[in-house]
Amino acid sequence: MGHAASNLAILGLQWGDEGKGKVVDLLSPRFRHVVRFQGGNNAGHTVVVNGQSIALHQVPSGALHEGCFLVVGSGVVLNLDVFQQEIDRLKARGIDVTGRLLLSEKAHVILPHHIALDRWREGGSNPIGTTGRGIGPCYEMKAGRMGVRLGDLLSPALLPDRIRQGYEEVRLRVGTSVELPPLDAIVDDLRKVSAPFLPLIGDAQAHLYAAWRRGESILFEGAQATLLDIDHGTYPFVTSSNCSLGGLFTGTGLPPQALGGVLGIAKAYTTRVGAGPMPSELHDAMGQRLREVGKEFGTTTGRPRRCGWFDGPITAHACRTNGVHGLAIMKLDVLDGLDEVGLVTGYRDGEGRVSTRIPSCAPDWDALRPEIRMLPGWKTPTRGVTDPASLPKEAQTYLAALTETVECPLAYLSTGPDRHEGCIYPDAFLGDALRS
Ligand code: IMP
Repeated sequence: MGHAASNLAILGLQWGDEGKGKVVDLLSPRFRHVVRFQGGNNAGHTVVVNGQSIALHQVPSGALHEGCFLVVGSGVVLNLDVFQQEIDRLKARGIDVTGRLLLSEKAHVILPHHIALDRWREGGSNPIGTTGRGIGPCYEMKAGRMGVRLGDLLSPALLPDRIRQGYEEVRLRVGTSVELPPLDAIVDDLRKVSAPFLPLIGDAQAHLYAAWRRGESILFEGAQATLLDIDHGTYPFVTSSNCSLGGLFTGTGLPPQALGGVLGIAKAYTTRVGAGPMPSELHDAMGQRLREVGKEFGTTTGRPRRCGWFDGPITAHACRTNGVHGLAIMKLDVLDGLDEVGLVTGYRDGEGRVSTRIPSCAPDWDALRPEIRMLPGWKTPTRGVTDPASLPKEAQTYLAALTETVECPLAYLSTGPDRHEGCIYPDAFLGDALRS
């Protein structure tokens, strides 16, 4: 068997936007394969190279490194129009993915009526605050056995029959309130847009299995995050895929033995986009400051993100759910210059009881108020610091308190957007990823 120890998963531990793209970009030169296993173009991974930022939505973040082979696994839902645009944008920056991209024949295709249904629902009385990209309906069609897989594109004559049932169900649902493109037009467009991708569609599961057996290193790039996981997140205010560890196995078809370790990514504070519970949210000037200094606006939709202090219990829940070996804490520098920095250590209910338990039903969050521990801030900037020992004492104390609440050691600390702005904790777990 291959060397599972060198295979690493990178997973978000909050509500997404933790900075996974930067970590994947940083680590990917050390990996032969970089794999996306769930989500679609709801994700937005920003990587900054030489001061220029590039937003990736569906293309694995390893794209920027020529030696990385890119795999889109079976758990992904793909918007092929957007995928083409992304590849074109990369090409315009001199980044070519020709010959190093494989799309799972089992991954599903996002179709125009999925997008229409998503937006129609969001216009109703119970909006989730989705990205409006058709993600939920596409996964529903998959679970309802009406989905269109990339492999179906290889038999174009069968496409109308493959698409029809789902299309008709959406039409019945939205009635005359939304004008859907005719089925023929959807099929024609799909044939056109998929043509350049047909040679790239194949057996990604077999590819990854063989790579693992040969001992080639694999980096698994999570999208969204544990609190948005359809099972383990703040349901129903979640996305429609399993963004936590289980999704890696269903979304690639690899067994658990193929995984060496899990690096969990969290910001030094908390953000969320869309509706739903967020006990740490700050509605005051501090929330506004975090948003402005942290540039907390969605990569995919441009929406302002809700901001709050680091939430220990939700991140601890994510560490447990994913078996996280080491933490990457991002954007510590955003907290530079504050008099005090807060840390949510638990939640107080209506009767005054404090708990760190994560309720499983969204309304149960309503009565909970965060217990916040305030720690001294630091005046010396951490921006660009690369040695943990040179961090201001107060920042070190804050990080120690943070890791204590989540019961997980630090492996990496990001102190700025650029690749070189960050500290690697030399004795920490990072599989073999950072040791070589
Ligand atoms: P959907 O994934 O578009 O269905 O949106 C469902 C929920 O997940 C909404 O609250 C979105 O804001 C959130 N969401 C989806 N993708 C991301 C992401 O990449 N970052 C942050 N939030 C996301």
